[in-house]
Amino acid sequence: MERLRRLRRTAAIRDLVRENHVRADDLIYPLFVAAGNDSVTPVESMPGVSQYTVDRLGEVIDRVVSAGVKAVLLFGIPDHKDEQGSGAWDEEGPVCRAIRAIKARAPGLVVIADVCLCEYTSHGHCGLVHDGSILNDATLPLLAKSAVAYARAGADIVAPSDMMDGRVAAIRAALDESGFVDVAVMSYSAKFASAYYGPFRDAAGSAPQFGDRRTYQMDPANGREALREVAADVAEGADFIIAKPALAYLDVLARTCDVCDLPVVAYNVSGEYAMVKAAAANGWIDERRVVLENLLAMKRAGARMIITYHALDAAEWIHEER
Ligand code: PBG
Ligand code: ZN
Repeated sequence: MERLRRLRRTAAIRDLVRENHVRADDLIYPLFVAAGNDSVTPVESMPGVSQYTVDRLGEVIDRVVSAGVKAVLLFGIPDHKDEQGSGAWDEEGPVCRAIRAIKARAPGLVVIADVCLCEYTSHGHCGLVHDGSILNDATLPLLAKSAVAYARAGADIVAPSDMMDGRVAAIRAALDESGFVDVAVMSYSAKFASAYYGPFRDAAGSAPQFGDRRTYQMDPANGREALREVAADVAEGADFIIAKPALAYLDVLARTCDVCDLPVVAYNVSGEYAMVKAAAANGWIDERRVVLENLLAMKRAGARMIITYHALDAAEWIHEER
């Protein structure tokens, strides 16, 4: 008889045969950076997550470094919005100022800047709007200009999350032309039109003011199509591929890892975080065990890295288990 329990008999044997691990340096911590001064504003639907003004970022950056987390992903909350989303490439906007401040305080921390227009446009869409539709090609130069602004401020990686076709090529070309050949592109390739982004849109003030994002983000029904998105971004020169959301899309993550030899990143999104926090606050689940199990599931599906709002807690828990 096959006796699989033989290898489960003691903790040491289980450690020896364990196939996957979650480590602090697998984790990327998202940060919301707001315009203005001297404020830390909690995000109600994401307990434990706040928006920080640049002058107050130091406290959280020090926590990231001491937790052993190696990278942060920045989102901006500007003080003005317009039709074009011009705040996205403002060199004095919160993201550019935050990049410079973080690089001054923690030069070794990897700084990733999200590239999108939705936090900056008055209509809340990720691209330019004309007659109620979202323009693809006219949006590309604006995304490219934003990416170059973040590179100039000192970002190591830019992460386009808009889902316009052709944006990786446009961003890569603009970075190269401006001399930023070493700035990498982490592309949100398989990004679905998901209800799990709700709390993020509260945090970033980026909900669309009309319609929805289904003409540019992917249909949750489509797994095969995700592989075409991945192939397109690889061909355009992406350095990393993001699949998002994570938990309800572990099949997409696993298939992406099967076909793609770039580092694949899982985005454990805001709604996934909010559900865990709500159940934990009610005492219905063991937060620590559920979080570590979820992150392990993403690693098992093949993710090399995980973007997660749980990063600081998880890194501390992992450290305690050692
Ligand atoms: C903006 C953006 C979104 C997320 C990352 N970048 C929201 C959206 O597309 O509406 C979602 C992140 C999360 O839910 O944690 N394009
Ligand atoms: Zn967007």
